[in-house]
Amino acid sequence: MSIVKINALTVPPEARATLEQRFAGRAGMVEAADGFEWFELLRPVEGTDTYLVYTRWRSEEDFQKWQASNAFQAGHARAATDAASGQPPARPVGHPGPGGPGASGPGGQAATGAQLWSFEVVQSAAPATA
Ligand code: HEM
Repeated sequence: MSIVKINALTVPPEARATLEQRFAGRAGMVEAADGFEWFELLRPVEGTDTYLVYTRWRSEEDFQKWQASNAFQAGHARAATDAASGQPPARPVGHPGPGGPGASGPGGQAATGAQLWSFEVVQSAAPATA
């Protein structure tokens, strides 16, 4: 069964547009990663202020490989460039360190915190086909 990795992003109300713009211009490389099955950026409407970056993978190993890959770095490259160019720290909680993912920099800080959640898919369903 697949596994789900959700990156839960704390985003101040004034930074929502910035975050969504950054994702609108995302690298689009995750699509080519081995074992990648699904991605969604979920905007909170009610009950929470947290944005969710939902990803689904064939296996834990596939996710780990993507996270260690150049594609992951490239998917977060702007943040890495920002860090290297001496932008204000604005590092989100749980940030893996210089050169890694982040959400600050030109265009303003977006996420102020990030938490990675892991799940195993127990059941899933899709619409019945006629
Ligand atoms: C450590 C904290 C993290 C923060 C603050 C963060 C934030 C961001 C931001 C702002 C983008 C848009 C591109 C950019 O501006 O660079 C992005 C891309 C993305 N992030 Fe993260 N991210 C983090 C870690 C993760 C993790 C652990 C996952 C795993 C679920 C993940 C999944 C993705 C995906 C799938 C994309 C799109 C990449 C592509 O199009 O190839 N991120 N992230």
